Amino acid sequence: MNYLKLVNKSNPLEKCDIPLYLKEINREYNIGKNNLLDKKVKFWFELMAKQAKKNNIILKNISAYRSYEYQEKLYESYKENNLENLDMSSAKAGYSEHQTGFALDINMDNINFYETIEYQWLSKNAYKYGFILRYPKDKEYITGYKFEPWHYRYVGRKHSKKIYENNLTLEEYIEKKQK
Ligand code: DAL
Ligand code: ZN
Repeated sequence: MNYLKLVNKSNPLEKCDIPLYLKEINREYNIGKNNLLDKKVKFWFELMAKQAKKNNIILKNISAYRSYEYQEKLYESYKENNLENLDMSSAKAGYSEHQTGFALDINMDNINFYETIEYQWLSKNAYKYGFILRYPKDKEYITGYKFEPWHYRYVGRKHSKKIYENNLTLEEYIEKKQK
């Protein structure tokens, strides 16, 4: 499994790209109907949520794997509702990394997630479990998306540590590696 797979506005997936090993997230750590993750990503997310809980930090998935068709409907519904700056907030079908099964939105139902202790905890600890904040603040010009404090992407611990320590986006990290 290539956990460094880059999916963004310049690197889409095919409609037929469906992850092979999707598994349901434990109900204890889920409140969304899109509750599937790649098997290994599920393991690390649940481990992270379990450790967080010991510190009274409650982490729950809201939206993990999304199929091409689901993303298509989601994007269309935002469009119908005239969502402002739509393309800075939502990916078109084929362009969302939710289709990889490696990404998930955590506690996003809380509109002030940025101000929560859960956000603080994730910012300091998610990399220890292989996750990165995929759309950081002030990096919109690189990622193509507005700051999303809830969207975490699994890349594995070796890479997440380097990305965290050097304050990089996945785009920057991959580019550096290729040099
Ligand atoms: N909100 C992210 C960018 C997505 O739609 O995949
Ligand atoms: Zn997301």
